[in-house]
Amino acid sequence: MEFGLNDEQLVLQETARRFAQTEIAPVAGEYDQSGEFPRDLMKKAWELGLSSTCIEEPYGGVGLSVMDSCIVTEELSWGCSGITTSIMCNDLGLMPVVLAGTDDQKKEWLGLCAEEFKMVSFCLSEPEAGSDVAGLQLLAEKDGDDYILNGTKCWITNGGVADVYTVFATLDRGSRHKGLCAFVMTSDLPGISPGKKEDKMGQRASDTRVIHFDNVRVPASQRLGQEGEGFKVAMRTLDRTRPPIGALATGIARRALDESVAYAKERKAFGFPISGFQAVQFMLADMAKDVEAGRLLTLQSAWMVDQGLRASKMSSFAKCFATDTAMKVTTDAVQVFGGNGYTKEYPVEKLMRDAKLMQIYEGTNQIQRLVIARELLKE
Ligand code: CAA
Repeated sequence: MEFGLNDEQLVLQETARRFAQTEIAPVAGEYDQSGEFPRDLMKKAWELGLSSTCIEEPYGGVGLSVMDSCIVTEELSWGCSGITTSIMCNDLGLMPVVLAGTDDQKKEWLGLCAEEFKMVSFCLSEPEAGSDVAGLQLLAEKDGDDYILNGTKCWITNGGVADVYTVFATLDRGSRHKGLCAFVMTSDLPGISPGKKEDKMGQRASDTRVIHFDNVRVPASQRLGQEGEGFKVAMRTLDRTRPPIGALATGIARRALDESVAYAKERKAFGFPISGFQAVQFMLADMAKDVEAGRLLTLQSAWMVDQGLRASKMSSFAKCFATDTAMKVTTDAVQVFGGNGYTKEYPVEKLMRDAKLMQIYEGTNQIQRLVIARELLKE
């Protein structure tokens, strides 16, 4: 068993770390306040090979393994998780093409996103179908060689800024998971209209929207996989993207730990730095051990995916544990900072707001526990 990173991974980690420290962290507060979308920063990340990393080399990309993408994601998220969510969402959106696309579809869509800077969205959730993917209602009706799409998606990351969408639809609303289909398309097709940007509690730099599909015509050549395979494409995608969510959460938690350690050494109470009190030391110690455990679970699940092993349970372990850890560690960080931690002048209140979303998106932590329990009882 080898726990060290290889030379290439160390270089990748250093590149992402430098980008987070010099480009992301200095502007994170500004984008959090304004809620604007940092498109220039997205482009810089793409130019450095830190975004759309799942595009395989034959199609012009860097083809990072899931393990490598976790290493990058933790570093970027240390700078700002909202900005990182938008960067990472390109991989989430492209993964259905990687997993289910034909060679021609990969040449066209992965090639496009490797050649030019593009933002991508993964359009799965709906107003009445968030956790229950099989219950989604966006209808795809066959019309000659095309499909006509009607319905609404919601909570779509990059929804208003993406150039390319992967969209999940049903051919028959009564067939549940057996009726689902996946498509890839550009976002400028007639009939596609993003709604207003959500005014979120945290991760405010990422663009999250409702998207309406009104008689959107999509050629059958843009269907990913066979009719009825959409549900499994979505599940296989999430198996691969949940480890990076663990990494994103670990980045938030590590930042909260770093900030807490530095503050505890400086802040004095009763004439001493608060780092000298066991009440504070024990909180820091718990934070550190949980950050480490979250990272280990994350990397182990990433390794399983890279080995081609079925990783549903491990990916859910990682997503659930690391994101619950981020919530706990950031809450404790606010406690270490005391009253200061509750103000916007210090960085930890943003971390706590950002962490909350981690327990909700890419499958709530209740859904992760459901996946774990099902796999456990099946064994
Ligand atoms: N890989 C392959 N096949 C799978 C699979 C997997 N991981 N999981 C299930 N399947 C198969 C099953 O074997 C079954 O196949 P058969 O029909 O051949 O028997 C079929 O799929 C149906 O499976 P289930 O009966 O388990 O399906 P279900 O309806 O009970 O639901 C669920 C499963 C786990 C609840 C699923 O709906 C789920 O994961 N929900 C959460 C959705 C989610 O994560 N959304 C996130 C949106 S993206 C996002 O948030 C991103 C962002 O903003 C950044």
